[in-house]
Amino acid sequence: MIDIFAKHAALRTAYEGLTAVSPRNPFEVVIERPLSATVGLIEGRETLLFGTNNYLGLSQSSRAAEAAIETARTMGVGTTGSRIANGTFGLHQRLEKRLASFFGRKHCMVFSTGYQANLGTISALVNKDDVLLLDADSHASIYDGAKLSGAQVIRFRHNDPVDLEKRLARLKDHPGAKLIIAEGIYSMTGNVAPLDKFVDIKTRHGAYLMADEAHSFGVLGEHGRGVAEMQGCEDGIDFIVGTFSKSLGTVGGYCVTDHDGVDLMRLCSRPYMFTASLPPEIIAATLAALDDMEARPELRVKLQENAARLHAGLKAAGLQTGEHVSPVVAVTLENIPQAVGFWNALLENGVYVNLSLPPATPDNRPLLRCSVMAAHSAEEIDKATAVFKAVAEHFQA
Ligand SMILES: Cc1ncc(COP(=O)(O)O)c(C=O)c1O
Repeated sequence: MIDIFAKHAALRTAYEGLTAVSPRNPFEVVIERPLSATVGLIEGRETLLFGTNNYLGLSQSSRAAEAAIETARTMGVGTTGSRIANGTFGLHQRLEKRLASFFGRKHCMVFSTGYQANLGTISALVNKDDVLLLDADSHASIYDGAKLSGAQVIRFRHNDPVDLEKRLARLKDHPGAKLIIAEGIYSMTGNVAPLDKFVDIKTRHGAYLMADEAHSFGVLGEHGRGVAEMQGCEDGIDFIVGTFSKSLGTVGGYCVTDHDGVDLMRLCSRPYMFTASLPPEIIAATLAALDDMEARPELRVKLQENAARLHAGLKAAGLQTGEHVSPVVAVTLENIPQAVGFWNALLENGVYVNLSLPPATPDNRPLLRCSVMAAHSAEEIDKATAVFKAVAEHFQA
């Protein structure tokens, strides 16, 4: 019999190599209980959380929790069905109207996760006759959506408008539709995309542009509409995709657009059609978190202050960080054993960050991905940077 797991041999070797040198499995960290937005119980210790996507701290919003509890009591805990069959409640439509109005767009489709929002939007928009131009550092959900679509995929250099334009120009006589996809803030590095430049290029080359604002929704722009709002180029973005699982602290995804053609996407987007819809209590919590986000613009101001503080603190500690000041701060290390040791030492000293390893990282170098929240106090940020500094001295990073 052929060993069905034989194909995992290389992965197993890498995994076993990693778990042999690491005192704990970095892929199985358990947050036993969040004690607040910024502190969780890990291995029985109070640990500072600097490795979440909870940018506004809203996973702990009491308004959202109350809304979820009340809705679960009155409407139950699930829909048991797909949006196009038996899974659309009034709440789904309310959320879609609310998001369309928040973004000033005609249409919104809500998906059960952000991952599915990318899968479902990309695979419904393009097919084998079309071309996708993807930023090389795109999230897995974008690559998976591309695969599901069957479209030809062309990667352009990360955040590089010149490279994008060069590749688009070569497609001048291609008869299919061209869809460019970029993110707002990149999740691993905190890099911000030049969406305004991409808008200029897509207009001149007759292409469409989709932006995944997963990490920038609620975070950037005067109203929290993301990088496109911040750069003043929203009108040029055809499709904005995002998630509720980061700044809103719940789960689910969306696509907003002014293109009327999306009405039929509800009938041909498989990740939208063939999965159960969001449970009512999650929608209620998401609507309440949106209320919080809109009512408290000061959260975004605090988040930027905190991002600048963490970035400056880590730089001053002599660590190698990215150039963009954003709520995601990536510390690049030299090699995997050093990164694994560093990450373990941080956790043992009460600071939780994300260990990101090649091949999932840009340039194939290991990263410690740190993220801040509006909810962090200056003392918490300073404490984390002090721990980083002490550990770095030990490892001479
Ligand atoms: C850029 C990007 N898009 C989409 C997703 C998927 O979102 P979700 O985790 O809410 O499914 C993520 C999640 O990490 C992401 O970073």
